[in-house]
Amino acid sequence: MPESETICGTATLDAARGGWQAVGMIPEPSMSDPRLTELSGCLPGLRLLTASADLEHYGRDWTRRWTPAPLAVALPASTEEVLAIMRWANERRVAIVPSGGRTGLSGGAVAANGELVLSLERMNRVLGFDAVDRTLSVQPGVILQHVHEAAHGHGLVYPVDFAARGSCSIGGNIATNAGGIRVIRYGNTREWIAGLKVVTGHGELLELNRGLIKNSSGYDFRQLMVGSEGTLGIVVEATLRLTDPPPPSQVMLLALPDMDALMQVFALFRTRLPLQAFEFFTDHALRHVLAHGAQRAIAGDHPYYVVTEFDAADERQQEAALAAFEQALERGWVSDGVIAQSEAQAAALWRLREGITESLAPWRPYKNDVSVRISAVPAFLHEMQALLAREYPRAEVVWFGHIGDGNLHINVLRPDGLAEDAFIAQCEHVTALLAATLQRHGGSISAEHGIGLVKRAYLDSTRSAAEIALMRGVRKVFDPNGILNPGKLFADG
Ligand code: MLT
Ligand code: ZN
Repeated sequence: MPESETICGTATLDAARGGWQAVGMIPEPSMSDPRLTELSGCLPGLRLLTASADLEHYGRDWTRRWTPAPLAVALPASTEEVLAIMRWANERRVAIVPSGGRTGLSGGAVAANGELVLSLERMNRVLGFDAVDRTLSVQPGVILQHVHEAAHGHGLVYPVDFAARGSCSIGGNIATNAGGIRVIRYGNTREWIAGLKVVTGHGELLELNRGLIKNSSGYDFRQLMVGSEGTLGIVVEATLRLTDPPPPSQVMLLALPDMDALMQVFALFRTRLPLQAFEFFTDHALRHVLAHGAQRAIAGDHPYYVVTEFDAADERQQEAALAAFEQALERGWVSDGVIAQSEAQAAALWRLREGITESLAPWRPYKNDVSVRISAVPAFLHEMQALLAREYPRAEVVWFGHIGDGNLHINVLRPDGLAEDAFIAQCEHVTALLAATLQRHGGSISAEHGIGLVKRAYLDSTRSAAEIALMRGVRKVFDPNGILNPGKLFADG
C-alpha cells in the first residue's frame, strides 16, 4: 500500500475505504491481509496473532457454540495502543471484539465473523492502592482472583466473587456487571466501580467519575459502561472500591425435601442470620459435581440442597445458626444438614455448588440465566418447573443458582441421538416460552451472564420497545460506526 494511503491514529482517508473489508465478512486470516499490514505499520510494537490455534483460542468463550473465525488477535499493552487500534478500526470499519478471560456464558466475547479480537490480557497490572479512598486501581486484564489477593494484601476485600475467579478478568466482569455468590450481601459489580477509564467505540478516551463517592453532575456514564457488554467502550482502567473483610463465617449444607422449602428456609435464615450467601442446587447437579470429584457431604437422596454462609463471629451467632437449622428441621423444611468445622470442610461444601458449571462443561449445555424479584421466586419456580418438565421430556435439565437474590441457572443437556441443531432449536423454543413466563413475573432473561449472542432474540421480553430504541441511540452516540462487538446485545449490530 502506498505510504499516502495508510491510516494511523486520527488520520483519515476516504479514498481507501472502498477497498476494505466490510464489517461482518470473513476474510482469510493471515498477516498478509493488508489491514493487518497497515495496523502493524501504524503500531510497530503491537502484538498481533494470526496463527490458527490463536484465532481458535481467542475467538471463543465458554459457550463453545460458535466456530471462532476472527481476523486476528491484537494484544495491546497500553491505553495508547488501545486508542490507536480503535481509531484505526473506525477508519477502516473493522469490527472489534473486546476480550478478557473469555469465561462468559452468553457468547459476548465470541469472534466468529472476521472481527479483530482486542485482548486486554497484557494489560494486567494492579496500578495502585489508595488507603484513604480505599480503592484499588487496576488494568482491565487483571484476573478477579488477583484483585482479591491485592485487596487482601491491604487488609481489605473486593467482595464480588464467583467460581470463575481464577480465570475471568475484571474488564469482563465490568462488561457484564458480574454478580456471583455474594450478591445478597454486597450487590453486583456495579456497586464496586468507583471510576473507569474507557476508550469509546469512536476512539475517545473518557475518564468517568474519578473515584468520587458523591458526584451529582449529570449523566453517570461510568454506570452506563457497566453491563454494556463491550458495545459502547473498552475499559482500559478501573478504580475499584474495597471494603472491610467480613467477620469470621460458617458454611452450612442443607438437604431439602421439596422446592417450596427453598424460599421458606431462605426467609427463616435471613431473619435469623447475617447471610453472606444462600445458594441452591438440585440432585441432578449434585450427581454431576460428585462425578467430577467433589465429596458427598450428606448421605441419602434429596431433591434440593442449599449451601449457605453466614457471619458466625461468636458463640451467640453460632447458636443462632443451630437454632435456625433446628427450627427448619421441626417444620419439615430441611431433612438433613452439616456445618463445616474447618476451612477445608467449608471449601468442600462450596465445591458442591461452585463445581457445577465445570462438571457440566463437557455436555456444552444450553444455558438460561434468569431472575425475578425475591418475592416472585416461589410462584415463578412452580411455573418454570412445570414448563421445563413439559417441554423437555428427554433432556436432562440441571438447575441451580443464587436463589437468595432471585437468580436461577438452567442448564439443559443434549440427549443422546438428538442432533445439535435440533437441540438448539428446541431450547430456543422453550426459551421463548420461558421469556413469556418471566415477563408475567416481571423478571429478566439475563440476570448476570449478559445478553451476548445467546439471548439477543429475547431482549424485548425484558426491555420495552422504548428502552431498546434508547439503547440503540446510546450505542450510536458512543460507537457511531458500530464497530464494537457488533451482533452482541442487538441482532442487527
Ligand atoms: C454459576 O453461578 O455457577 C454460573 O454463573 C452458572 C452457569 O454455569 O450457568
Ligand atoms: Zn451464577
